[in-house]
Amino acid sequence: MVTMETAEIDTDLSLFKYDNLEQLPPEYRDLTEDERAPRIEAALAELGDDVVVLGHNYQRREIVEHADFVGDSYQLSKRAAEADAEYVVFGGVTFMAESADIITDEDQTVILPSMEASCPMAGMAEALQVDAAWAEITAAAPDAEIVPITYMNSYADLKAFCASQGGLVCTSSNAASAFGWAFERGDKVLFLPDKHLGENTAHELGMEDRIATWDPWDPEGKDPEEVAEADIILWDGYCQVHERFRERHVEEIRADHPGANVVVHPECRREVVEAADVVGSTSTICETIVNADPGEIWAIGTEIHLTNHLQRWHPEVEVLALCGDACMDCNAMRQIDPNYLTWVLEELVEGRERNVIEVAPREAELAKVALDRMLEV
Ligand code: 13P
Ligand code: SF4
Repeated sequence: MVTMETAEIDTDLSLFKYDNLEQLPPEYRDLTEDERAPRIEAALAELGDDVVVLGHNYQRREIVEHADFVGDSYQLSKRAAEADAEYVVFGGVTFMAESADIITDEDQTVILPSMEASCPMAGMAEALQVDAAWAEITAAAPDAEIVPITYMNSYADLKAFCASQGGLVCTSSNAASAFGWAFERGDKVLFLPDKHLGENTAHELGMEDRIATWDPWDPEGKDPEEVAEADIILWDGYCQVHERFRERHVEEIRADHPGANVVVHPECRREVVEAADVVGSTSTICETIVNADPGEIWAIGTEIHLTNHLQRWHPEVEVLALCGDACMDCNAMRQIDPNYLTWVLEELVEGRERNVIEVAPREAELAKVALDRMLEV
């Protein structure tokens, strides 16, 4: 098995604290919470059943407080599919809103309050680049049936590509089942874009010795012989929020807080997942805290807004951030500024649709095949 290594990131966290309010009309830019909250509620009351607001667990408090449903990306895609509302306002990132647009009916409109909310990991596997790599990978194993699986954190064109090659989409809560689906139909899996989720899933399936990685940016990082040997080929993408966590953070928490438990997201490195007590999607992280006994100590290895929500929602549990102040917020998620939410809702009240997410019909049709396969596994 290849060793997973990514360059040590020593980042100035302030670089990630970027808020882009440029698209917002100036009169919305400086609204305070006291000014904005009643305006959001008034717009929601006016729109009634015409609108549903979905919020990912990583959204800011000022967004989740106004959401009809808060959850992980799998739950949100199911909620979007079930929604009757004419407008789905999505507190999340572009790939989530795209998936909602693909899953919802044609007469429903999906709105992403800020168009700047793009997940960097999704950008690490562009469909054109994957298409080129696919030619090399399939040539390296000409007799094998390779099934591509893309993580939900990817753009619609990559989801469409996977469908066209007999593959599917998965989220962090059903990756192992998606691999099972693929191995019933083929010999090898190409998993994109998150190498850590892929490696953690391979371990869950007892296939950790069957992995090769494919680094599309490094000529040395793609070995056709390894591809021919392996059953699972991992694209070399990662989430910078989750890559910060290291095994030593788990050790430090356990040393500083005797009796502490640790729950982490499967986008974390293998060493962190191995050192943790529980691993799972953002909804698993929430359930772990909901089910904790009062007084228990839980350190959380994921995006900081969710840790902060769980501290607020469950004061009976001692909730800690796994790497303290070094825990990051997701810059893509934070682009959904609550003033953008105010603006898009008030515009809807005036009959104007802003920041509509619309996937091209041919791409949407194919991507839906990959998403439907996911909803079935
Ligand atoms: P979940 O699918 O667990 O909600 O996670 C989405 C995500 O973006 C994690 O970084
Ligand atoms: Fe993407 Fe990571 Fe943000 Fe999740 S936390 S949306 S994977 S950048």
